[in-house]
Amino acid sequence: MEHFFVLDGEKIPFTPGQTIMDAATTAGKYIPHLCYKEGLSAHGSCRMCVVKINNRHFASCTTKAADGLIVRNRTHEMTEGRRTSLQLLFVEGNHFCPSCERSGDCTLQATAYEMGMLTPRFDHFYPDRRLDASHPDIVLELNRCIQCELCVRASREIDGKNVFALAGRGMASHLIVNSETGLLGDSDFAATDYAARACPVGVFLKRTGNYGAPIGARTYDERAISTQATTASGADHASDVVEDERRALGEVASELETAR
Ligand code: SF4
Ligand code: FES
Repeated sequence: MEHFFVLDGEKIPFTPGQTIMDAATTAGKYIPHLCYKEGLSAHGSCRMCVVKINNRHFASCTTKAADGLIVRNRTHEMTEGRRTSLQLLFVEGNHFCPSCERSGDCTLQATAYEMGMLTPRFDHFYPDRRLDASHPDIVLELNRCIQCELCVRASREIDGKNVFALAGRGMASHLIVNSETGLLGDSDFAATDYAARACPVGVFLKRTGNYGAPIGARTYDERAISTQATTASGADHASDVVEDERRALGEVASELETAR
């Protein structure tokens, strides 16, 4: 028996056990998200993927798909809510897009464009965040961290290392590194770790080789993030994504080696 739910008027097939986000992604439909990534466990913290079902709000990355659900995703109301969440995220950290190495490749920035965010709207908090330059290959620019925990899960679930964690609560919440000194350079993190690639913003900075792609040729310069939802399916695709990204990181590591 085939299973379907309805997303913004379109029938989306799913296999029992899939979340709404997984099924939508498999079908090539975009549900905005920041803390979700195929191949990693869901976390449900950024609330960007919240959809409306029977007049109630649910995080689509943690809600299981069920037959006959009527799911509202790209509505004016949902966009307004997401835009507000984004405006808060932008003032809670120190984000200076024009000078950021990830500009054009950043999921936070691309999602903000997608949601029509033009201004920060709220006063900036300008939090005091640290920069960790202790690692030979990667600088951690924590001013840009949105505490999505993708690096935490990637390190634990894909790299098998458990290098990162979040500590503190609310505005005091921050990323910590699992090493005796708390410094990245003293941990067993490597530039090729998937954790670096999983980060949706510009926290993990290569020491060399930045700004390789010119403005206009970066991931979201030509095509909006909503048009780049995956159309491949299932767990095999997820592991392909991880493999592709591992390969890319392998190339980065050898570039770094050559540059030294
Ligand atoms: S460093 Fe990146 S991946 Fe890790 S919690 Fe911060 S934003 Fe998320
Ligand atoms: S992507 Fe679902 S809560 Fe973050």
